[in-house]
Amino acid sequence: MTEPVFTPRVFSGIQPSGNLTLGNYLGALKRFANSQNAGVESIFCMVDLHAITVWQEPGKLRRATRELAAGFIASGIDPQKSILFNQSQVPEHTQLAWVFNCVARMGWMKRMTQFKDKAGKNAEQASLGLFGYPALMAADILVYHATHVPVGEDQKQHLELTRDIAIKFNNDYGVDFFPITEPVIEGAATRVMSLRDGTKKMSKSDPSDMSRINLTDDSDTIAKKIRKAKTDPEPLPLDATGLENRPEARNLVNIYAALSDQSVDQVMRDAGGKSFSEFKPMLADLAVDKLSPISTEMGRLMQDVCEIDRILAEGAERARAIATPILQKTYEIAGMVGARV
Ligand code: TYM
Repeated sequence: MTEPVFTPRVFSGIQPSGNLTLGNYLGALKRFANSQNAGVESIFCMVDLHAITVWQEPGKLRRATRELAAGFIASGIDPQKSILFNQSQVPEHTQLAWVFNCVARMGWMKRMTQFKDKAGKNAEQASLGLFGYPALMAADILVYHATHVPVGEDQKQHLELTRDIAIKFNNDYGVDFFPITEPVIEGAATRVMSLRDGTKKMSKSDPSDMSRINLTDDSDTIAKKIRKAKTDPEPLPLDATGLENRPEARNLVNIYAALSDQSVDQVMRDAGGKSFSEFKPMLADLAVDKLSPISTEMGRLMQDVCEIDRILAEGAERARAIATPILQKTYEIAGMVGARV
């Protein structure tokens, strides 16, 4: 059988489940804008149906979805060039997810580390949706035949599962229908760490607000969080190899590199040997310089919620135009009567 050629298409998603962090910005949003600007067809989604796999207060979810849309746009996503929408407006995601629930195996899902982390010791009390989360994620991607998915390091295992689901579907039905998607995990900031503990991921769910920079933080707060970030007592090493066993130092250098679009080696050429009392103000200035225009723009966009809702509805319509025929073809392959192909 000849391999079908899939047109390059980028898809990625973010949960509207709280504040956007510097991790989301450097690991995802900033890189999404790069792929859009490189001219690749790009589809970006606020995954509200993933968010409710754990309890979300409805009013907060609504606000977080709109704020996330504002975050996408303020980070450089142009809703004319890219497709920007929220997941629940495109029912084909959940329809394909059902098919994938029947393709994925219990054993595969049980191995997902994010389920184990989120469900914790009390897995019996976790929602069924949380367990099936990765199948919906595979559907998000494959309902567009997306070929590339830019994400942070923490999503790697979910993307491997997406590939497994595509391979098994293709094998079971004897087709070459779904592409085997490439995860795109690159750059200095694929895993931004907590400012309080360099061995833990920076996360919107960390109880300490000092552990993260939120995209809505004002300049003083950003500078204060960087000033108070945990470090060790030594000055920065002279080159990148000296960062190996120094998680906090490495994290701050990685953040500097990603914010300034430099490699870690380039940063070390300028900053190597500096004390933290010299390096932290450099980083704080850079972070304020890069992030405060984003938070200002998010605030401006949030003043016109109707416009945000209009953008999302229009994005959903464009998304459905791609997703509907792919879902219908899937149904036909699986033997559903009445599939409209
Ligand atoms: P979510 O909402 O947790 O995070 C959104 C994106 O931000 C990245 N990220 C980070 N990158 C670097 N350092 C960090 N500290 C950090 N924290 C978060 C994540 O890797 C992600 O790229 N399951 C996904 C959402 C999703 C999705 C999809 C993604 C649903 N369907 C389809 C891609 C394709 C999630 O919970 O991301």
